[in-house]
Amino acid sequence: MAVTVVVGSQWGDEGKGKVVDLLASQFDVVARYQGGANAGHTIKWGDTTQVLHLLPSGVFASGVHCLIGNGVVIDPKALVSEIQKVQELGYDLEGRLWISRNAHCILPYHQALESVRSADRIGTTKRGIGPAYTDKIARTGIRIGELIDRDAFFKRLQVEVAQKNLVLRGAYGERELDAEEIFSEYTGYAEQLQEYVTDTTHFLHEALDQGKQILAEGAQGCLLDIDFGTYPYVTSSSPTAGGVCTGLGVSPTAILRIIGITKAYCTRVGHGPFPTELTDHTGAHLQKTGGEFGATTGRPRRCGWLDLVALRYSCRLNGFSELALTKLDVLSGLETVKVCVEYEQGGAADSRFTNDAQALEAVTPRYEVMQGWKEDICGCRKFEALPDAAKELVHRIQSFTGIPVTMISTGPRRSQTIQVDC
Ligand code: IMP
Repeated sequence: MAVTVVVGSQWGDEGKGKVVDLLASQFDVVARYQGGANAGHTIKWGDTTQVLHLLPSGVFASGVHCLIGNGVVIDPKALVSEIQKVQELGYDLEGRLWISRNAHCILPYHQALESVRSADRIGTTKRGIGPAYTDKIARTGIRIGELIDRDAFFKRLQVEVAQKNLVLRGAYGERELDAEEIFSEYTGYAEQLQEYVTDTTHFLHEALDQGKQILAEGAQGCLLDIDFGTYPYVTSSSPTAGGVCTGLGVSPTAILRIIGITKAYCTRVGHGPFPTELTDHTGAHLQKTGGEFGATTGRPRRCGWLDLVALRYSCRLNGFSELALTKLDVLSGLETVKVCVEYEQGGAADSRFTNDAQALEAVTPRYEVMQGWKEDICGCRKFEALPDAAKELVHRIQSFTGIPVTMISTGPRRSQTIQVDC
């Protein structure tokens, strides 16, 4: 029995979608374990580009089961529209998409609350993620299992909408929401989702007993983790490998392989500390060349040099068995490439990452300056074919983190990938 995990090692947008799509056909099940439609996993093949927000990135691999675990918060409206989109592309989901009955729903009041609360302090995706996880922890959430039970849903919705209206109207002077309106719209989505809803934990346990291979797909990145990220500038779930156990119901001992995805530079969307951020022309170059605009919100991503201090923290948090390095091609053409190897504060150097947002805001990165390369590497299919300077960067990442780089992505397409023998 074996679970492989794909985790973002930075602030999200590392290219997890591409890696999961590439690996999916080697697995029996691909399972999302946390987050919601705040994620935007981009998959590109031929002339086709697809962005998935809730469906696992295994949907385009035929015969592979796709599962949305209990740790995910599901916007039923968004999921129904994504299912329709994928079906229109000719991919049948009947009998291979499974949605946890314990996953919590994102309902219109979650988005309404997010838009009036202090969310802008963080720069959220405005998908209602935080308020839905708040309800989950407060034990007032409505789960998918209740959504598909008309009577239970109506009762719960009336109570919740009344409560939320007290806040929306009383505290923020907002328009009240109508429980009956939401009910009639959302029972329509429930009818369309019903056939996929099951006990996904049981499903996974049986799959593991039968020796099936499971690929757990993380969303966001571990520097956005609710506990280990730069709180409060984080998402409301656990993208770390630890989140797999609580988000799917598999045991830690079933996890055999953990792949950390890292871009060859760093990006961040929304607010929060970012020691290696570049606000100069190099940052603008990375943003333009890397197409660094949010797949969900379209917001420009902040860009900066690769932060090895932060990456090593991610390696330790997650126990990565290997790293997949993405977007190496974006660095082509730069005279020099920098990697941050220490932080400096008050004249003292520190090689440890801190997730204290205020403290991290105050550090100055110390860089190692490496030779850049001029060649376009998009066509490289073998490690040996890379320019020496690019190989040097890969070696430095390995030596600093102690983790082997087993995959290098040199472009968005499936074919633009180097498998590294280590
Ligand atoms: P939320 O997850 O919408 O609550 O947003 C919280 C923070 O996480 C914000 O800074 C978002 O920009 C960031 N965030 C959420 N999802 C993603 C993602 O998929 N990629 C990158 N950043 C994300």
